[in-house]
Parts: sequence; C-alpha cells; structure tokens
Amino acid sequence: MTDHVTARETRLTSGATVVVAGNYDEMSILAAGIVARHIAEHPGTAITLPTGETPRGMYEALTGMIRGGELDFGTIEFFCLDDYLGKGINDETSLTAWLDKAFLTPAGVHGPNIHFVPTLADDPDAAAKAYEASIEALGGFQLAVLGLGPNGHIGFNEPGASIDSRTRVVDLTDESRTQNAAYYDSDQAIPDKAMTIGIGTLLNSPRIVLIVCGSSKAGILRDALQGPVTAEVPGSYLQTVGERLVVITDPEAASELVLD
Ligand code: GLP
Repeated sequence: MTDHVTARETRLTSGATVVVAGNYDEMSILAAGIVARHIAEHPGTAITLPTGETPRGMYEALTGMIRGGELDFGTIEFFCLDDYLGKGINDETSLTAWLDKAFLTPAGVHGPNIHFVPTLADDPDAAAKAYEASIEALGGFQLAVLGLGPNGHIGFNEPGASIDSRTRVVDLTDESRTQNAAYYDSDQAIPDKAMTIGIGTLLNSPRIVLIVCGSSKAGILRDALQGPVTAEVPGSYLQTVGERLVVITDPEAASELVLD
C-alpha cells in the first residue's frame, strides 16, 4: 500500500465532510487511521465496522498496525454490524466468517471484546434485543464505520428501514442477496433474512465514517449524500447527523457528487 496521501476534503451543506482519496489504498489507510486513533483515544468504548469488498484494504492496514504492535484492538468493544440469519462463524458464507478470514484471524484479535451478531439464537428477536442492550450498556457506539450497499443500504438496513430502527431481524432484497453471493467462491444460497444493527443505533454515534469505492457506487453515493432524505435510500439518513459524518471515498465513487 502507498502512504502518499493526496486526499481532497470538502464540507457538504449537511455539515458532513467528504474526503476524496487519490485511490483505493489511500481511502483504506485514511479509514484505518481514523479507527486506530479512535481506539487509542477512547479505550473501553464500543465500535462497529462493516464487512464487504470496500473495507478489505482498511482491515489489511489495521492488521498491519496490530501485528506491528502499534494498535491494541483488545482495548475496545467491537460489535459486528450484520450477518445472515442462521449463519455463524463456522459457515463459510457468513459475514462473520468473512470478517474472521479477512481480519480477526490474521490480526489475532479473538477475545471476549469481539461481539458476534447472534444469528444462531433459538429466539432471534430476543437475541437481537439483547445485542442492542449490550451496545446501550456501553453507552452506544462511539465510532461506527459503515459501507454503502448498491441499493443504499447501511448494514443490512434495506430500503424501507426507519430512521429510528434498532437491532433486529430483517428481510433481504434479492439485489442484496445477489451482491453478497459474489463475496464467496461457493454455490451456497444466501439466506433471505439477516440480523442487523439498526439505523437509530448507528446514527447515535458521535463519529460515523462512511467508506465507499468504485464507479458502481457513484450514483447511489450521490443519492445518499445529496438526494432527498428518504427511507428508499437508507444511506440518506446519514445527512441528518451533520458534522458527525465523515465520508471517505475513492475518486470513482465520488465522481457524481457535486463538490465545491
Ligand atoms: C453488504 C453489507 C454491508 C456492506 C455493504 C457494501 O451487503 N451488509 O454492511 O457495507 O453491503 O458492501 P461492499 O463493500 O461489498 O460493496
């Protein structure tokens, strides 16, 4: 990865900061830097980070810092953001298994401070409430890093999700299932239900970082940041948090934003 950062920063009318990195690697390093600084400055707090193709580079950078002794991930409470109902870390097509392979195992950060979405619980609704309660018991998230789905979802809060939604079981759209099937070299079907941390839970965080890359996300990123605030694009709810939002993109994902 390069360490030559050429990012350009702009303030949107919503109050959010958009940082357009020179390329994917710089986006990843910037995002990892925010996470690392946060952990160093706010030990003991709860954070959530996303899965997907977008954050691979961020996790690679964090893994390097942890293995190099610059960052101790054991000092924070990390909550996984979302996963498929009925799939856990031992299912190769779960998001938790993805995270384990991409980050937890390479970085060696297993432990009681790593919280998995309780997708295998006998009573998933009660387990979702308990997951929410354990986040609340820690004072809510002090940092939430999010990706943006091609249909505007954040976590697995699909179009139609309410702004004050909490951790719960949700139905997945066919679009999201197709998108997620591409993560795995497997012909296993992606379930039609998932459990996700809610939008209300995420928006309460004093620092929210949205990372987005690639030209295929340019239109939905514009809709999320500069279109109407609507349940049809859950990412557009991020406009309501003002300057608590920092968006980090590569040039391709930012190409349809109107920036001064
Ligand atoms: C996935 C996950 C989200 C993720 C988003 C973007 O379905 N549920 O948490 O942020 O979609 O994924 P990607 O980065 O692969 O485009």
